[in-house]
Amino acid sequence: MGKRFFKQTIHDVDLRHKTVLVRVDYNVPLLENGEISDDLRIRASLPTLKYLLSQHCKIVLISHLGRPQGRDEKYSLAPVAVRLSELLDYPVKFVDDCVGDKVRQTVRRSSGAVILLENLRFYPEEEADDTQFARSIARASQADYFVQDGFAVVHRKHASTHEITMYVPGVAGDLVRAEYDAITRAMLSPKRPLVAIIGGAKVSDKIGMIHEFINKADQILIGGAMANTFLEYKGYNMGKSRVEPGQHDVIRQIYQAVERKVGRERSDAFLLLPTDVAVAESPDSQERREVNVANIGVNDMALDIGMQTIERYTAALAHAGTIVWNGPVGLAETSTFAIGSARLSLAIAQNKHALSVVGGGDTADFVLKWDGHDGAAFSHVSTGGGASLALMAGKKLPGIESLLDAYGLGVVH
Ligand code: ADP
Ligand code: 3PG
Ligand code: MG
Repeated sequence: MGKRFFKQTIHDVDLRHKTVLVRVDYNVPLLENGEISDDLRIRASLPTLKYLLSQHCKIVLISHLGRPQGRDEKYSLAPVAVRLSELLDYPVKFVDDCVGDKVRQTVRRSSGAVILLENLRFYPEEEADDTQFARSIARASQADYFVQDGFAVVHRKHASTHEITMYVPGVAGDLVRAEYDAITRAMLSPKRPLVAIIGGAKVSDKIGMIHEFINKADQILIGGAMANTFLEYKGYNMGKSRVEPGQHDVIRQIYQAVERKVGRERSDAFLLLPTDVAVAESPDSQERREVNVANIGVNDMALDIGMQTIERYTAALAHAGTIVWNGPVGLAETSTFAIGSARLSLAIAQNKHALSVVGGGDTADFVLKWDGHDGAAFSHVSTGGGASLALMAGKKLPGIESLLDAYGLGVVH
């Protein structure tokens, strides 16, 4: 990996025979029937886990899954334990809680198995970065070290990514290190033009990042529910489309920054919005109707970008030097509304000169299935969505910042 990482890693400390608490991101996309749709995030955790096993560590894994409101079996990590055990080829013991006596007893008694604890977000204290909760996790796990390997969640300041390091010294795992290196390398002096595609549904999480991208990118292509929110701001009737309310001020500031950079007359050629969309009256519909954005009906949902938009976006991608993509540009889980995302994937794959970084749980799920070659058509498929965007935008990541400094005295800050 070359140069030393700015934080201590699992290779900098003596972990032999230690108990380690490992924060992974097993927030995997699930199918309607609860099956795991894509196990990239589980596979990506294997190098660290194999290294820890080689050091004879007792491994206690913690993760979130989805955004449950309290305990909700639909978001249980139990199915992940089964898949992890198959992939790691090692027993995985699942505990249906992440704090308390049951966890403590299991950790004390178990040997010859990796332990996976239940979804951290069954407790609201997790997202509140609650210090007592972090201490309870640390105590229950009896860990000597905390290993941060959930790259996709390091942009969150939560109990298991931040406050936990007050109670257990934290070091970085191999995935965090590899993702950090790949993404920062791509952004350091990117080959121009740099084209960013931003789509998906986590609008309020990601919209602020667009602002950060205005100076770095040469063109920004907007799709998905993010595009719906921009189109609604522009005054288009979006019918029953998914639109995130309360974003007008942020969008206004985005346009002001774009105008400062490229001038008013060029702003729509810098920040591209769909000019046509594929609509239906239900996400389950198998019929795809394409309409100009000015003709969306009151009962229509915009579920993908339209053909004219696909042509404009793929033309921009064809001459890009660097491409970053987060968030599908449509309902990519359904074949009817995955056309836009598939055509963008193809355009990226065809541009052999561009360095491409594609990220996000759902985006990675889509491109890996589209590619069928484990992402060989892309330079880097990141496990992180919001996290990779934040890193590209140059933001500090609380889940990494809280780890032990590589050159300091090991002081947690
Ligand atoms: P990622 O997981 O890659 O970071 P997000 O979680 O932000 O991306 O968004 C992915 C979700 O966005 C997918 O479930 C996809 O179906 C949804 N989505 C994309 N476009 C639309 C749209 N037009 N309307 C509703 N949902 C959409
Ligand atoms: C992700 O999928 O981006 C991460 O797992 C973080 O999930 P969150 O956006 O619900 O915090
Ligand atoms: Mg997602």
